[in-house]
Amino acid sequence: MDAGPRPRVIAVAVQKGGTGKTTLAASLAVAAAQAGERVTVFDADPQGSLSAWAGLRTGPEPMTDRLRPWEFAQFAPLLDQLAEQGRTLAVVDTPGASIGGVAALLRLSDLVLVPIRPSRLDLMAALPTIEVLAGQGMGDRLALVLNQCPPAPSPRTTLYAAQLAGLGVMAEPAILQRVDHQDAIALGRGVTEHAPHGFAAAEVRALWAWIDRRLGPQPRP
Ligand SMILES: Nc1ncnc2c1ncn2[C@@H]1O[C@H](COP(=O)(O)OP(=O)(O)OP(=O)(O)O)[C@@H](O)[C@H]1O
Ligand SMILES: [Mg+2]
Repeated sequence: MDAGPRPRVIAVAVQKGGTGKTTLAASLAVAAAQAGERVTVFDADPQGSLSAWAGLRTGPEPMTDRLRPWEFAQFAPLLDQLAEQGRTLAVVDTPGASIGGVAALLRLSDLVLVPIRPSRLDLMAALPTIEVLAGQGMGDRLALVLNQCPPAPSPRTTLYAAQLAGLGVMAEPAILQRVDHQDAIALGRGVTEHAPHGFAAAEVRALWAWIDRRLGPQPRP
């Protein structure tokens, strides 16, 4: 079978636990699938949170798969296989702790989305990830997103958005702290499936639209 175009690849990554990587990877994968992408979402975190979410799902899309640390080096041929299968987007959820080899996944990513909570400690904890990626010449593939923000309008969100804008491109919109995210994950859904008319769903759809524009069109084979 002829290979189709290579899928676009987003990794959700920051070496800081609990910032919302899995929550956003799951809901963005669902939102992108609803927007017409043929999505495969990978759980590259040995903790297996995304796989647990996937285990609760019944529908075929997005496809979900596990990526074990010893498979990270095989990500390029795996993307070729996805191309053959006509998948258009890969979303990769990565561990909050340092796991050797994650860099191999990030290097093959068209966009690395870095979720950061609006707090001083979270900003500081995200700095090494941002610096490493920038140092590897990946600064233009980096997008920071504020997650778990307090209810708007919030001076805290504005303050941290301004600080982060000095470190890299800010994805929009900032994602607020909302129970819809927690309930959706607990039920094996994306937030746009769980509460499609809610504010959380609207934010995730808007974030997917931002990412889609930033990624640009799918490359030709
Ligand atoms: N926007 C949000 N609104 C409300 N709760 C959220 C939001 N984003 C994440 N959470 C909650 O924050 C906690 C951490 O989220 P999650 O597990 O997605 O983070 P993570 O970065 O994947 O963590 P880890 O580094 O352990 O893999 C979870 O309880 C999740 O439900
Ligand atoms: Mg996680």
